[in-house]
Amino acid sequence: MPRYFIWTIGCQMNKAESQQIAGYLDSAGYQAINSFSNADLVVLNTCVVRQSAENKVLGTLGLLKGLKNEQPNLQILVTGCLVNSNTQELKKRFPHVDLLFKPGDYHELVTWGQKQGIPIGQRLLRYTHNHAWITSSPCALVPIIQGCDNFCSYCIVPYKRGREVSRPVEEIVCEVEALVERGIKEVTLLGQNVDSYGQDLPGHPDLADLLNELNSINDLARIRFLTNHPKDISRKLIDTIASVNKVCEHLELPVQAGDDDILKAMRREYTVEQYRKLVNTIRRKVPQVSLSTDIIVGFPGETEEQFERSLSLVKEMRFDVVHVAAYSPRPGTIAWREYQDDIPAEAKKERLNKIEELQAAIASEINSQLQGRQAEVLVEGRKGGKWFGRTRSNKLVFFEDDGDWLGQSAGIQIEKTSPWSLKGEVKK
Ligand code: SAH
Ligand code: SF4
Ligand code: F3S
Repeated sequence: MPRYFIWTIGCQMNKAESQQIAGYLDSAGYQAINSFSNADLVVLNTCVVRQSAENKVLGTLGLLKGLKNEQPNLQILVTGCLVNSNTQELKKRFPHVDLLFKPGDYHELVTWGQKQGIPIGQRLLRYTHNHAWITSSPCALVPIIQGCDNFCSYCIVPYKRGREVSRPVEEIVCEVEALVERGIKEVTLLGQNVDSYGQDLPGHPDLADLLNELNSINDLARIRFLTNHPKDISRKLIDTIASVNKVCEHLELPVQAGDDDILKAMRREYTVEQYRKLVNTIRRKVPQVSLSTDIIVGFPGETEEQFERSLSLVKEMRFDVVHVAAYSPRPGTIAWREYQDDIPAEAKKERLNKIEELQAAIASEINSQLQGRQAEVLVEGRKGGKWFGRTRSNKLVFFEDDGDWLGQSAGIQIEKTSPWSLKGEVKK
C-alpha cells in the first residue's frame, strides 16, 4: 500500500482541507503515516499569513528537495495559501514539486491523480470522504464560507482565498448528516468571517438559520463555528447561542488592538467601546460563554501608549484565550503599501511577551475556578497515556481511565488546572 503524509500549517480552514485531501487519498488506497520518511507521496498544505509561516513553508520545501534527490519516486504536492495565480513562478522556483494546486481545487488534484494512474475518487462532493472517519475522532471541521471580503489592512487572506462564497444550507446539512451517520458528534463550521455566511445565497439565510437547521439533526451533540467579526456579529446570532441547545457557548472574536486609531488603520470598522459593549451584551445573554481573541502587536506606528491600551483591554475583558502575533508586513496588502514596518523586532517581541504573560495569569485564574466542578467532555483521542477532549466551552481536559472513551461523552470531575488545560477524573 502506498503511503502518504500531509504536512499542514495555518488556520482551521487548512486543517479541514487537509482532512478532505486525506479522505481522497484514503479512498484511493493510500495509507496515512506521520512523517516524511518512508512516504511515497507528500502534501504540503501551506500558510503565508505571516513571514514566519512562509519561512517554515520554504524551509520544508528545501528539506523535500533533499528527500527527492535521494528518492526520485517521491511525489510532492503543494497546496494552501502559498499557491494562487502564481503557479508558473512557483514551478520554476521549486522544480522538485510534482503538483501545485490552489486551496480547495480538488479537480486539479483528481486530474493529476488520474494521469498518474492513482484512482482518486471522481466524485467531488465534499461529504463523500472525510478523514475524521479514519482517525475515529468524533469532531469534524466543515467549511461553510470560503474567502473574505473584508480587506483588513494587514491581512493577506483575501488576496489568497478570494471573495466570499457560501455553500448552500442544504449541502451543509447533507454533509453533516453524512458525518453524523458515521459517528461524528461535533461539527465546527468554518469561515474567515462566518457572520457573512449566506449573504450571497438566494433568500439570504444567515448563520443563525443554519445553526437552527443543524440543531435538529439527531445524534449530533455539539455545534461550533469560527471566526466571528465584531463589526458583523448579530443579535440574532447571540440569541441563537443562548437558546439553541447544541450550539456551544464559545466565541472566537478577534479584537486585534485596544486603540481606536490603530483599529482604524487596520480597517477593522469598530471602536474599542463598540467591542466592549458587544462583549457585555454577549456575556449578559450567554453568561457561561468562553471568549477567545486575536491581537496583533507592533502594527506600523503603534506607540508604547497605544500598545498599553491593548494590554489594558486584555486585562479588562478577561478572555479565556488570547492569540498574540507580531505584525508582519505582507506584500500586496494595504498596510504594506501605505505604512512602514517601523516597530523594531525586539519591541514587538517585548510587547508580545507582555500580553502573553498577562493572559497566562488571567487564564490561570479563570481556569482555577473550575477546580472541583463537573465538566462534560467529548473525548477526541489519546495522548501520552491520557484521554483528552473538550468541554462545551472549548476547554481542553485530560484524564486517565482504562475504559474506551473515544468518541464518548465523559462526566469529568476537574481536579487540576493550568492556563492551558484541565485535568480530572471520571465521575463514577
Ligand atoms: N478571519 C480571521 C483569521 C484571520 S488570520 C480573523 O478575521 O481574525 C488569523 C489571525 O492572524 C488574525 O486574527 C490576526 O490576528 C493574525 N494576522 C493576520 N495577518 C497578520 C499579519 N500581517 N501580521 C501579524 N498577524 C496577522
Ligand atoms: Fe483577514 Fe480581516 Fe478577513 Fe480576517 S476578516 S481574514 S483578518 S481580512
Ligand atoms: Fe494561513 Fe491561508 Fe489560513 S494564509 S491563516 S492558511 S487562510
